[in-house]
Amino acid sequence: MQEKLEDLKNQAQTELKQVSNEVSLQNLKAKFVGRKGVITEITKSMKDVSSEDRPKMGMLINEVKTYIEALFDEKLNQIKEEKKKRAIAEEKIDVTLPGRNVSLGARHPVSQVMEEIVTIFERMGFEVAEGPEVETDYYNFEALNIPKDHPARDMQDTFYISDDVVLRTHTSPVQIRVMEKEEPPIKIIAPGRVYRCDSDVSHTPMFHQIEGLLVDKNVTFGDLKGVLTEFLRLVFGEGLGVRFRPSFFPFTEPSAEVDIECVICGGQGCRVCKDSGWLEILGCGMVDPEVFKSVNYDPEVYSGFAFGMGIERITMLKFGINDIRLFFENDVRFLRQFV
Ligand code: DAH
Repeated sequence: MQEKLEDLKNQAQTELKQVSNEVSLQNLKAKFVGRKGVITEITKSMKDVSSEDRPKMGMLINEVKTYIEALFDEKLNQIKEEKKKRAIAEEKIDVTLPGRNVSLGARHPVSQVMEEIVTIFERMGFEVAEGPEVETDYYNFEALNIPKDHPARDMQDTFYISDDVVLRTHTSPVQIRVMEKEEPPIKIIAPGRVYRCDSDVSHTPMFHQIEGLLVDKNVTFGDLKGVLTEFLRLVFGEGLGVRFRPSFFPFTEPSAEVDIECVICGGQGCRVCKDSGWLEILGCGMVDPEVFKSVNYDPEVYSGFAFGMGIERITMLKFGINDIRLFFENDVRFLRQFV
């Protein structure tokens, strides 16, 4: 029995070497010194030991038990220590590593220019108005003096939802919606999306316009020229050449198209301005009396001017972009250039 006890010490030592985690350590400890362990078994067999040897054996059993328990305690500490060291090593932060890049979003170039234009007109005292993108034939055409059989309807390739409902082809219907609700003086701009069934380097089925409308007593073409010339110089630069060319729109009389000096060649003539030195930039005119009649304004009392322009076109000229479709492909290599 004495021998067996001595062996037990060595056995515990050898088996402990195989152990590397707390769970198997606890299991092994139970096998040796647990309630159902080897030492308990040996203690039970004390009844076979002669009474004179019994105290000595008792002491020996205790000593072996204490010895083995100490071994296990030591191993437990060792395992815990290693675990702690590993955790520290794994959680260590290398402060010399370069930081992870957070890529920031940015305003789309069309939105940037839209905001810039809105800001300029707001400073001149215009207020922003809105209207629906799905519009009735009445607001999109009829009330703007474009009757059903009017050739001007062919100018705009309309998306029809039904006979009487369209995707608005321009922001001009917002003029009617505002005038129906309010009395002059009116001084609004209406930015928003418009739709036309058209697609090439300078046309997309959806694009953006800004409409302007000013109605009051004694508004003249001179006021229109002043406001738009000032606006275009704020967008494209001081001293920019601006000209008003007679044109036709059903909702204005007289009507004009406004050209700016070509921003690509400085007016010398190039491919973009088709060698004319001028770029067409917007449409405008004095509100036609027929339009006033459809909103019950008295054309003898009030006069006004209106204008409309495409935002993508202005953005393209401002940044020298030659294909409108780039705006809608959402390629970050393109968009990143306008941050
Ligand atoms: N609505 C016209 C278009 O989309 C642009 C326009 C021209 C608007 C003259 C106006 C205007 O308000 O007076 O082509």
